[in-house]
Amino acid sequence: MSSKTLLSLHTFLRSRRSIRKFNGQRIPEEILREILETATFAPSAHGLQPWRFVLVEHQAARQSLALALTDKMQADMRRESAPEAEITARVKRSMKRISEAPHIILLCRDTEAVRIQSPEETLMGVQSVAMAGLQLMLAAHARGLGANWICWPLYAQAEVIRALHLPSTWQPQGMVFLGYPAEQAGEKALKPLDEVLLTIDGTTPLFYE
Ligand SMILES: Cc1cc2nc3c(=O)[nH]c(=O)nc-3n(C[C@H](O)[C@H](O)[C@H](O)COP(=O)(O)O)c2cc1C
Repeated sequence: MSSKTLLSLHTFLRSRRSIRKFNGQRIPEEILREILETATFAPSAHGLQPWRFVLVEHQAARQSLALALTDKMQADMRRESAPEAEITARVKRSMKRISEAPHIILLCRDTEAVRIQSPEETLMGVQSVAMAGLQLMLAAHARGLGANWICWPLYAQAEVIRALHLPSTWQPQGMVFLGYPAEQAGEKALKPLDEVLLTIDGTTPLFYE
């Protein structure tokens, strides 16, 4: 890889942002497939590729997903004694976002893709799906598309499996809204590197004094 390509790859990686407003234009199927296929090049624990993708294209399926997510959202908020007005507003906002997303890709982890069922293997499966999710969003970015990872399915895993008639082992981890951007994300407030980096070297007092 030339140093020029490396430099532009860094610039590219730093320019990905969550996009929450789309212009409604549909993405051609071959581009959708290309993005999903690039996502499958992500690293995974033991190379087991536990990710499963559900492209929710049919209007009835989208409606079913929206209802499953917002019903659970309402129930959870009521249990936490959230004010009714807040619940109504959140559900309305969520319904609107789901209906306006040009494409919805549900990211699942196949619970049977691991060799051993253990908390560590489960976590590695979840981490692997997240790797594919990021790769998917970067592949979309490379095509000038916008994407936003949405966590709601994590709170309604059983409900989403039921609503979309998914295989029972396809455990939803999140979903990605995908489309052509109709907004430019603002400045990003990043933590300085030195706040999130600890270098343990010969000058680290705790370890070497
Ligand atoms: C695990 C995860 C869950 C997220 N869930 C949501 C969500 O439910 N709704 C949303 O609008 N954005 C969600 N995001 C996007 C973050 O808000 C966003 O990545 C963050 O604010 C940083 O902005 P950037 O993506 O533009 O760099 C999620 C991101 C991650 C990694």
